[in-house]
Amino acid sequence: MAINSYEENNFRLASPEFGAIDSDIEISLRPKTLDEYIGQEKVKDNLDIYMQAALNRSEPLDHVLLYGPPGLGKTTLAGIIANTMGTQIRITSGPAIEKPGDLAALLTNLNEGDILFIDEIHRLSRSVEEVLYPAMEDNAIDIIIGKGPSARSIRLDLQPFTLVAATTRAGQLSAPLRDRFGVVLRLELYNPQELAQIVKRSSAILGVDIDDEGALEIASRSRGTPRIANRLLRRARDFAQVIGSGTITLNDAQTALKRMDIDELGLDNIDRLILTTMINNYGGGPVGLDTIAAAIGEESVTIEDVYEPYLMQIGFLARTPRGRTVTKAAYTHLGLSVPRTADNLQRSLF
Ligand code: ADE
Repeated sequence: MAINSYEENNFRLASPEFGAIDSDIEISLRPKTLDEYIGQEKVKDNLDIYMQAALNRSEPLDHVLLYGPPGLGKTTLAGIIANTMGTQIRITSGPAIEKPGDLAALLTNLNEGDILFIDEIHRLSRSVEEVLYPAMEDNAIDIIIGKGPSARSIRLDLQPFTLVAATTRAGQLSAPLRDRFGVVLRLELYNPQELAQIVKRSSAILGVDIDDEGALEIASRSRGTPRIANRLLRRARDFAQVIGSGTITLNDAQTALKRMDIDELGLDNIDRLILTTMINNYGGGPVGLDTIAAAIGEESVTIEDVYEPYLMQIGFLARTPRGRTVTKAAYTHLGLSVPRTADNLQRSLF
């Protein structure tokens, strides 16, 4: 089991299927306060009230569930909560907590008001999840001592704490777990203007010059995701440094993105492979998620969590009761002629 604190967060766990190991640079770009945090206005406004109210009452914040696609800032918000509440944060993830005893050890080591951040909470096993129920509700855990007929349960009191949990799949949480969160916040994909502000802020921290057009170009191709925007910024910086003027211009951004096979809408090779496989092998759909996954050799969950949200947001993919369907807009973007079926779908959708 791995655990660490936010400040010395140098081996943070990340979802392996998303390859999102947080680097030191990424951590240095994270805002530390809500004022510095760009976008997610509704989430910020509500969270601000909840935190101020808890601080005024000198109570820990109620348990918080953050959900939404990867890379939108769930871990960042957990850090901001700890910073604002003036408490320590312990960071772990669902798959890292293997046994009920692992979670019991974590919980009993928390100090009053501490934040326990569990990423990918949907991946907790049922037996571990059951330890959380009394912990969240009564600040206590039940420990079984002994085996067989002489086994007995003793209740161990915990310090009052706040669980901040993150998931890309809120629908996979069991109802008893979901119901124990007093605050449930859904993060949305960012718009290009918000991402451009994030890119400018990150450039200032990294000490890189970037002009407005360069920032907006990177922002527009980042699939609504700050983690991607910051990654593209670092690559554009490489191009500007080696073959450009040093300042990231529109031209540097476009060169970097072209070299990385990222198109004008931010689609990468996998996005295009998903769409072209659906079109070439399955007539544009409807086709089931597992069939698409098998055809392109990706995991279904990766397609569903990482690729689909953006493809659906830009209107290239639709979910129907019979499966996924490619829309007319996607055919046009890929330079393919639109068959009658996609044409019909488009008309019935809008
Ligand atoms: N870096 C990553 N996400 C951010 C956000 N939402 N606001 C500011 N900087 C960020």
